[in-house]
Amino acid sequence: MSLTAIIGGTGLTRLEQLEIVRRETLTTPYGPPSSALTFGRLTGRDFVFLARHGDPHTIPPHRINYRANLWALEQAGAESVIAAAAVGGIGAEMEPGRLAIPHQIIDYTWGRAGTFFEDGLDHVTHIDFTAPYSEDLRQKLIASARTAGLSVVDGGVYGCTQGPRLETSAEIARMERDGCNLVGMTGMPEAALARELELPYAACAIVANWAAGKSEGEITMAEIERHLARGMADFVKLLTRYAESP
Ligand code: HPA
Repeated sequence: MSLTAIIGGTGLTRLEQLEIVRRETLTTPYGPPSSALTFGRLTGRDFVFLARHGDPHTIPPHRINYRANLWALEQAGAESVIAAAAVGGIGAEMEPGRLAIPHQIIDYTWGRAGTFFEDGLDHVTHIDFTAPYSEDLRQKLIASARTAGLSVVDGGVYGCTQGPRLETSAEIARMERDGCNLVGMTGMPEAALARELELPYAACAIVANWAAGKSEGEITMAEIERHLARGMADFVKLLTRYAESP
């Protein structure tokens, strides 16, 4: 049976519901991934779980070795990747606690190692990235969320910022003019690297807070953690339905 990778983000360092079969610590030509890989089963389906920020959660977004993470998952035999991603909500429909399955990305990051195609090449490769997420996997996630009775937004433009600081309200206003309705820090280069490895990739964005300037006052970690606890519990419900689906 096919193996699905789950990349857990902030608020999902371990997937407690997984019946663990084994753990494996891999190295890659790009260095070590963020965490050991945990192989296990959820309602009969095989998964491999990786904690994007490490376990414990100590690696900030700009220091994540995205290449090692994707390489390790592919080496482990993953045939698709579902990413959980904490985000800020920009659009009115993206209220804290909500799940969204984005369909587009704008990359505002800089200086991240973002390709496998740069050293020792015999030709230059440009992957097609018109649609950065797998539409098939996106639709499966949306269907799983709906079967689980969760309200989910179909689509969203994920703006990926460098972090680890949150944005200014002017940056969010600019991103909104660009067409973003979600903001996070880890979607890129993760999605592009998955495409380079030809791994179908989709993300479930969990809205943790209103983005900067979209609510009164400061954004607090307490607010983020509160919404993430609920949102990640919903993500696990979605995943359980996904695991049960054919
Ligand atoms: N901005 C960027 N990344 C985030 C946010 C945010 O407001 N909330 C959670 N991840």
